Amino acid sequence: MKSILKILSIALILSAYGCFKSKKKVHTNTEDIPVHREMKAELTSPPNVPRPVGERKAKKLIVEMEILEKEGELTDGVRYVFWTFGGTVPGSFIRTRVGDEVEFHLQNHPDNKLPHNIDLHAVTGPGGGAESSFVAPGHEKVFSFKTLNPGLYVYHCATAPVGMHIANGMYGLILVEPDGGLPIVDKEYYIMQGDFYTKGANGERGLQPFDMQKAVDENADYVVFNGNVGALTGDNAITAKVGETVRLFVGNGGPGLVSSFHVIGEIFDKVHIEGGDLINENVQTTMIPAGGAAIVEFHVNVPGTFILVDHSIFRAFNKGALAMLKVEGEENENIYTGEQYDGIYLPEGPGIQEMPTTDGVVESEIPAQNFEEQMKFGKQIYMQTCFACHQAEGQGIPNAFPPLANSDYLNADVNRAIDIVLNGKTGEITVNGQKYNSVMTRQMLSSEEIANVLTYVYNNWDNNKTVVTSEMVNKVKNK
Ligand code: CU
Repeated sequence: MKSILKILSIALILSAYGCFKSKKKVHTNTEDIPVHREMKAELTSPPNVPRPVGERKAKKLIVEMEILEKEGELTDGVRYVFWTFGGTVPGSFIRTRVGDEVEFHLQNHPDNKLPHNIDLHAVTGPGGGAESSFVAPGHEKVFSFKTLNPGLYVYHCATAPVGMHIANGMYGLILVEPDGGLPIVDKEYYIMQGDFYTKGANGERGLQPFDMQKAVDENADYVVFNGNVGALTGDNAITAKVGETVRLFVGNGGPGLVSSFHVIGEIFDKVHIEGGDLINENVQTTMIPAGGAAIVEFHVNVPGTFILVDHSIFRAFNKGALAMLKVEGEENENIYTGEQYDGIYLPEGPGIQEMPTTDGVVESEIPAQNFEEQMKFGKQIYMQTCFACHQAEGQGIPNAFPPLANSDYLNADVNRAIDIVLNGKTGEITVNGQKYNSVMTRQMLSSEEIANVLTYVYNNWDNNKTVVTSEMVNKVKNK
């Protein structure tokens, strides 16, 4: 925007002297920007964004977007039927420039069950396009609009019940770049928050239907970035190198909750507040309204894993609103000195949300039917409960948390291991020749869950392949 103002003021000065002969015409009224030829828009799935518009002139831009209703996963073992723009939540990213004439083709796949439409906040016109785009399964609707205002805008389905269509994942972002484009940066990513409401509680396995009452009450079971818990953690983390500038296009689909967007260990050098022209600098946390967006930019100076959260913090650690940016490169002790542990801020998950009942725990609903299920369920519990201290490969953390991998202490006595998970452990122990003196808290897990997680641990990382049953756990419990 600054550059536009600069060009405008230079243009004014030059024209005042009667010598303004620039080839580049500056349009004060974006409605008058002429379009040159046509092109097909590049659409991308999150967290990727299309190429910057750069110096390209305004064009007739053909956008083809297909609506797909498809089953996917909200978190491990929790299935959900998502309604999507382009097959992903959030929907495909659309990148335009001011003055483009967008010819929007909205296709509703024949296998879908419901009609849908699209309301793009970048549109000047009734319903943001919703009125012209209502489309039944097996049909396509076409409408056109001119992008008059640069900025980052949300789009969403606006078919009744509107809240339900949005809650099922029908939202995404459309960027309208200014003339000449946004300044070029090293890395750009697309992140969008959304809240989900399921009949079952957080973590309850199986195919979960949408819960209208919880949605009306804004009592979300999941608050996530990019459509599911873990969409941007571990191997799915976004990445950058020390010295690079990162730009995040961050949206909030809602439907219900406002996001307090924050990156742990970073300060936003710039925030395009609410996705508009106003740039704030040196910001810790920026508000992103439901149905709104922001562009945040920061330079990464030191390596490590930086955690993106909704700073309404239970949403981050207990409902899924947590993503990771992994930065590689040289340490810079002038800026930061100290140890860094990858993965210390992991979702605590539903496992510890239960208050103890009279006998201490709530029994899980469906027991594992076989060894494979025990391993699968055990891994889920491990990743929610044990991972932060004992680490992904059971390697532990030197001088703090003992390893579970190839552990002589673990393999020597299964009943002792069960007892530690049941009752916790304090005091010095020796594992593989190293002394540890940390505290392990008592874990609020059912006998079934303890059996599964210990079976997972014993059957990984060169341990002795013990299979633990809930009967074995109960025996130790009742000793
Ligand atoms: Cu819809």
